[in-house]
Amino acid sequence: MKNAEKEQRYFGRGSAPMDLEIKRAKGSLIWDVEGKKYIDFLGGSGVGCLGWGNSEIEMRMRSADIPTYVYPNFRYKRWGDLAEKLALITPKHLTTSFRTTGGSEAVEAAMQVAMMYTGRKKFLSIEGSYHGNTIGAISLGASENQKKFTNLLSGCEKISPPLDQNALDRIEGLLKNNEFAAFIMEPVICNLGVLIPPEEFMQTLYQLCKSHGTLLVMDEAISGFGRTGKLFGSEHYDIQPDMMVLDKAISGGYAGIGALIVTDEIASVVNEKVGLYSTFGWHPLGVEAAIAIVDILLTDTENLFANVEANSSLFASELQKMEFHQEPEIRVKGLAIGVDVKDQQYAQDIKKRGVEKGLLMNTENSSLTFFPALNINRETVLEGLSLLRNIL
Ligand SMILES: Cc1ncc(COP(=O)(O)O)c(C=O)c1O
Repeated sequence: MKNAEKEQRYFGRGSAPMDLEIKRAKGSLIWDVEGKKYIDFLGGSGVGCLGWGNSEIEMRMRSADIPTYVYPNFRYKRWGDLAEKLALITPKHLTTSFRTTGGSEAVEAAMQVAMMYTGRKKFLSIEGSYHGNTIGAISLGASENQKKFTNLLSGCEKISPPLDQNALDRIEGLLKNNEFAAFIMEPVICNLGVLIPPEEFMQTLYQLCKSHGTLLVMDEAISGFGRTGKLFGSEHYDIQPDMMVLDKAISGGYAGIGALIVTDEIASVVNEKVGLYSTFGWHPLGVEAAIAIVDILLTDTENLFANVEANSSLFASELQKMEFHQEPEIRVKGLAIGVDVKDQQYAQDIKKRGVEKGLLMNTENSSLTFFPALNINRETVLEGLSLLRNIL
């Protein structure tokens, strides 16, 4: 039985797969089982921050002298090492990491921590957003999920873009009764086609949350670890989030791992009380990968961020020159890139033709999205953009 048939018969999915069966990957390139090469602008939706098959990470993981597994209620030196490093690289008021296996679990943890810390049960988030796949995270995401599930959490309100004064007025109206435990959003909304919130919105949101005792949670699942040209997307704004969700690029794809990092003040209330037991959270392999990623980001900072900046400008200028059916809206923050082509079917067609021609990208409604590796080289960017030009 061919694998496609086998998957169809035995393997459950949330939606139909792309027409590509992967065999291997190196850097920003992927090969399928027939040996066809693809330029990877998708980057596993932000997971592959340092490219696939990164020799330094692989060498470190191979040579790590680590146990098979650590029972969550033991102590383990590398947990302390990683938590210390995360405290070092995230904004300095964030200090204490809770371990998770990925982003959904970290979002769920943020909700539990916010409920315990504030004694409140309502949540506010951005309409149409995506924060993961637990019932809590789905309740924060797009309201249209209510069509699929009739028993999502009550008390989850949404703010629809555009993120302008009207949106702020609505937030103020909702927060004023001091009932909301937390406001959660991506600082650069990668799951809405790389929607970049205006400075004014984030600043006022931060002040509103502060004055009404609502915790501000930045979901950095995609925007973290250098994606937007700063270590964390939140750093583009003058805000101090109370918690941050970390995921995806934290392991570069080498293992499933995520984290929720919170302030000292929050930790002093919830630590050792909130539970958050996770059988596979911070598995030793994931911890080694995450430590390697942080070390590389810290030692190779200048080169990596120079590369992000140069290729970010290259994407922006080349995309401007391309002829889409309608004038697109091009949104670029570092190597988080969204191109709203204003027509969902057209975006889907471009993505499908991309697979045929050997260029991988994603779509979000009517936007094409690209999250290439931070160390992608100029030649590969130009080769991928040339394929895109041909597709158009
Ligand atoms: C912003 C955001 N938050 C949370 C999640 C959920 O992460 P995971 O799939 O690791 O559970 C995702 C996944 O795509 C995400 O993009």
